[in-house]
Amino acid sequence: TKSFKVVLIPGDGIGPEVVAQAVRVLNVIDSSSPEIRLQLESHDFGGIAIDNHGDPLPDSTLKACKEADAVLLGAVGGPKWGVGKVRPEQGLLKLRKELGLYANIRPASFASDSLLANSPLKESVAKGVDFVCVRELIGGLYFGERKEQGSEPQPEAAWDTMIYSVEEVQRITRVAAQIALTTTPPMAVHSIDKANVLASSRLWRKVVTETITKEYPTLQLDHQLVDSAAMILVSNPRKLNGVIVTENMFGDILSDEASVIPGSLGLLPSASLAGAPVVSDAKDFKPCFGLYEPIHGSAPDIAGQGIANPIGTILSVALMLRYSFGLEKQAKAIEEAVRKALDSKEQGGLELRTKDLGGNVRTEEIGEQVVNILKTLL
Ligand code: NAD
Ligand code: IPM
Ligand code: MN
Repeated sequence: TKSFKVVLIPGDGIGPEVVAQAVRVLNVIDSSSPEIRLQLESHDFGGIAIDNHGDPLPDSTLKACKEADAVLLGAVGGPKWGVGKVRPEQGLLKLRKELGLYANIRPASFASDSLLANSPLKESVAKGVDFVCVRELIGGLYFGERKEQGSEPQPEAAWDTMIYSVEEVQRITRVAAQIALTTTPPMAVHSIDKANVLASSRLWRKVVTETITKEYPTLQLDHQLVDSAAMILVSNPRKLNGVIVTENMFGDILSDEASVIPGSLGLLPSASLAGAPVVSDAKDFKPCFGLYEPIHGSAPDIAGQGIANPIGTILSVALMLRYSFGLEKQAKAIEEAVRKALDSKEQGGLELRTKDLGGNVRTEEIGEQVVNILKTLL
């Protein structure tokens, strides 16, 4: 029996609500797969950790994450902690940096085609959209020099610095390329930057081009400017099918925008890794440590009401099983269970949609249905 340690950091707002449903899924996987054992433990992180320990990332939480095989995060932040000196979000940035998680993989596709009815885009535009966003996660504006000049409460000026080194661009390009090569034929790679203005983007474009040409010459590569890419993403998103590779903040913004295509921010999962994942059914599978989280935040506007969509977090568990544990069969079963739950109405059942998708089904009920279907698939 193989044993895996999963650290849960549910965080703030709807974080604990959506993580609770993902934990039910993990428990089903644990009890129906005799070859593995999942050990779960929870730790304070984010705003709740500021309240309890004065620090959004207490040493004990960081230590537990470092010793884990994988980490599952809900979300952090909220109006209670505002934009003060000690903020929950600082804990998340520190955690990503400390763990070296430079590659944030955010697949944007339809968990089920029945979601086409929930997309604000026309079916003819949204149908067949299938891309994965590879966002650089520990560089760029988020980690460059940041300064406020002058005195509180109103400094005279403030700045943030967008900085990328050749090596940082090379390693994220390799992750994008290796993901592109996991399908036959390989996926196209779309690199997104602002090379008409930013020096860091001109470096980005040059290094991406050189790395792909030299190391992955069979791959198709194109470059887009981020402003027009944002437009294409909602007017002709299939044009971006394949792998999108981009710097930290562009990736943050474009991935939230991409969630409009399937219909809600609550649907999309992510994996943050320290390298390229090896898919779990590959012969050369090697487990890699990862931090898994939905792409959305703590949604203070709906927190505590039991109406958050847990699907992005549940699908993040599927990514965890695939990339960190090599459990491809179980990962696929979770994705299939989510699809079947979303298709419930087509199968003569109730329409399972939370409020963000125009329904009135509660968070727990979605979890319940996914878990019940999952049990029949394992
Ligand atoms: P948000 O993602 O929390 O919410 C944006 C909108 O989407 C809200 O209307 C919210 O109700 C809705 N939404 C988000 N997730 C949903 C879900 N699962 N189900 C249904 N509706 C959902 O973004 P925000 O309001 O700009 O940020 C709130 C806080 O979250 C901020 O403090 C921000 O820093 C933080 N944040 C944290 C993370 C993270 O921990 N990874 C990510 C993004 C934002
Ligand atoms: C995300 C979030 C974070 C980010 C914030 C909370 C620091 O928006 O994970 O997408 O900007 O990376
Ligand atoms: Mn974001």
